[in-house]
Amino acid sequence: MSGYDIGLVGLGTMGANLARNLADNGARVALYDPAPDAAARLGAELGAKGYAAKALAELCGALDAPRTVFLMVPAGSAVDQSIADLLPLLSPGDAIIDGGNSLYTDTERRVAACAARGVEFLGFGLSGGSEGARRGPSIMAGGGAAVDRISPLFRAIAAKAEGEACFAHIGPGGAGHFVKMLHNGIEYALMQLIAEAYQIMHGALGMSARDMLPVFRGWAAGEQGGFLVECAARVLATDDPESGRPLVDLIEDRAGQKGTGKWAANATLDFGVAAPTLAEAVHARCMSALRPERIEAQQALGHPAARYAGDRGALLADLGEALLAANASVHAQGFAAMAAAATEKGWPVDLGAVARVWRGGCIIRSRLLGKIAAAYARDARLANLLRDPDMWALVAARDAAWRRVAVAAISHGTPAPAFQSALAYVDAYRTGRLWANMIEGQRDLFGAHGFGRIDRPGRHHADWAAS
Ligand code: 6PG
Repeated sequence: MSGYDIGLVGLGTMGANLARNLADNGARVALYDPAPDAAARLGAELGAKGYAAKALAELCGALDAPRTVFLMVPAGSAVDQSIADLLPLLSPGDAIIDGGNSLYTDTERRVAACAARGVEFLGFGLSGGSEGARRGPSIMAGGGAAVDRISPLFRAIAAKAEGEACFAHIGPGGAGHFVKMLHNGIEYALMQLIAEAYQIMHGALGMSARDMLPVFRGWAAGEQGGFLVECAARVLATDDPESGRPLVDLIEDRAGQKGTGKWAANATLDFGVAAPTLAEAVHARCMSALRPERIEAQQALGHPAARYAGDRGALLADLGEALLAANASVHAQGFAAMAAAATEKGWPVDLGAVARVWRGGCIIRSRLLGKIAAAYARDARLANLLRDPDMWALVAARDAAWRRVAVAAISHGTPAPAFQSALAYVDAYRTGRLWANMIEGQRDLFGAHGFGRIDRPGRHHADWAAS
């Protein structure tokens, strides 16, 4: 048996849907999964387009050379195990693609290990969940020459935005997985902003899920529109079939996390980039995990919650404006982190291409990404998205509304860390003389670390006053 274009290892929901998508786009797919019957069932469904292999050796034997094996297995040790199993079965020139949410430094290590055997290891970031895998994901490809050979097939299965495939060759090594990780960091921050908007409506404005639904639907249709806002509206629109109550009211307020948001926040710090709202969103999930302790603390300490006594319609309008401006800040932070990483790693990352790839298929797709793509089309070397005239106009026009929302949240005891940190980022970024002179003074006083002066070159120490 031979003549198959690609081997797919790992036939869970994502892997199976990807195989279906590949087959729909003309590929002949060899299938393998350690679970008995998974490959046979999918092979029968795909007919002549699918070949169910009973072992990895059989899968590799079915592929045309140079062979391409796509791994859709859980990130971590399963990827290493699959590589160890595959390498003896592959030949120089063959390629292994990891389509999971792998840590980009793991990908770099795997690239080196496979290269020593002449096999190219590619890290592809895929976004869009199982539905995206079936109908068209957004694909952030990392790797070397094999990406060009493989890309026509992946362009075909990718989502399309404004007629363009949501597929980009981001750069070598771990670049694709790095960009996917930042996608998830931004995803965490956008979800947190939406959740805080919900909390302000729920707490300060005392609105029910049903009251909020038209507001979220309005946002989904407006400039703030995007997949995550649509998801929020759908969550609000869903009732518990048993009690008839809005399901969101019955969901435990404890957010899970698989780790990609934390990796993103860690990486921004590793590269020395300020991305406070990406980190804040991870902290917020950690705070949510303290549920029993929070309940006890509320009983013991009380809570300063208060109802908003001002113009409710005006605050709701402000909230929509603040959401869009905060989204812009979050993207500015994420894109600045990608730019810094690309420079340090020597990756030729085209940030405009990243924005275009994120316009469709992925979880953070939104109208704003069209504006971001346009900003990079105007100036591919933008120091920060906030420096683009259109992006800045969008933020500046919402500045006052954003501050009113932050003040309302603070004065009504509604925690809104993402709205506040996103605003602080914008304020700090445009503060020509920041607080750090005071930090430098303290560092020199207690540690003789030295400081630079604005009026002369060199490093200096001071003889600090005794008190
Ligand atoms: C995507 C998603 C996907 C997944 C997240 C969820 O782009 O398709 O980001 O990767 O839904 O990993 O992450 P948490 O479980 O950490 O929220």
